[in-house]
Amino acid sequence: MGRTIEWSERTQLLRDALSAGGAFLVSVDASGRPNPMTIGWAQVGIVWGRPILTVYVRKSRYTHACIRASKSFTVSVPRPGELSKELALCGSKSGRELDKMKAAGLVALPGRRVDTPVVDGCVLYYECRIVARTQQELVDFEAGDVVERFYPTGNPHLVVCGEILSAYAVDRP
Ligand SMILES: Cc1cc2nc3c(=O)[nH]c(=O)nc-3n(C[C@H](O)[C@H](O)[C@H](O)COP(=O)(O)O)c2cc1C
Repeated sequence: MGRTIEWSERTQLLRDALSAGGAFLVSVDASGRPNPMTIGWAQVGIVWGRPILTVYVRKSRYTHACIRASKSFTVSVPRPGELSKELALCGSKSGRELDKMKAAGLVALPGRRVDTPVVDGCVLYYECRIVARTQQELVDFEAGDVVERFYPTGNPHLVVCGEILSAYAVDRP
């Protein structure tokens, strides 16, 4: 399933998904259950001389606890307009309350290079080894408009940088 690509290929697909319904960030909880969470923010680039995918996770998310205890995460990118209902569910319900893979009817496929699975039916996949987690502090924000808009009650993001160990794309008409 999927052809291995360079980490920098197909990033337009990621951008399009993030600008539309989102992508699935999967982490695994303490019981080993994969928990997909919809994300609208992510970056790919070079840090520490290696390809890095960065995601932003608020403390209030179940994913926050999962990703704090994990060594890896994956990002599965649907084609824009596809898996919309599934993205909506994974972006509104918490893995604390239910098994979202099951509830959304999603199928987990084993990761190629990491223990965390990916979500079947997407067109672009990233498998990442967590390199660093950094908690954002409001005091470090220079832009007041960003704080007002995104953090009126605090709850800033945990910034999680993952080294991309595998990137692959599914070509279909
Ligand atoms: C389109 C969309 C994009 C989202 N992007 C993010 C994000 O980048 N970071 C984040 O912490 N939450 C984001 N959320 C909110 C989480 O997906 C949502 O709170 C989810 O229910 C958390 O699941 P969890 O508790 O199982 O981790 C987004 C939601 C939607 C619908």
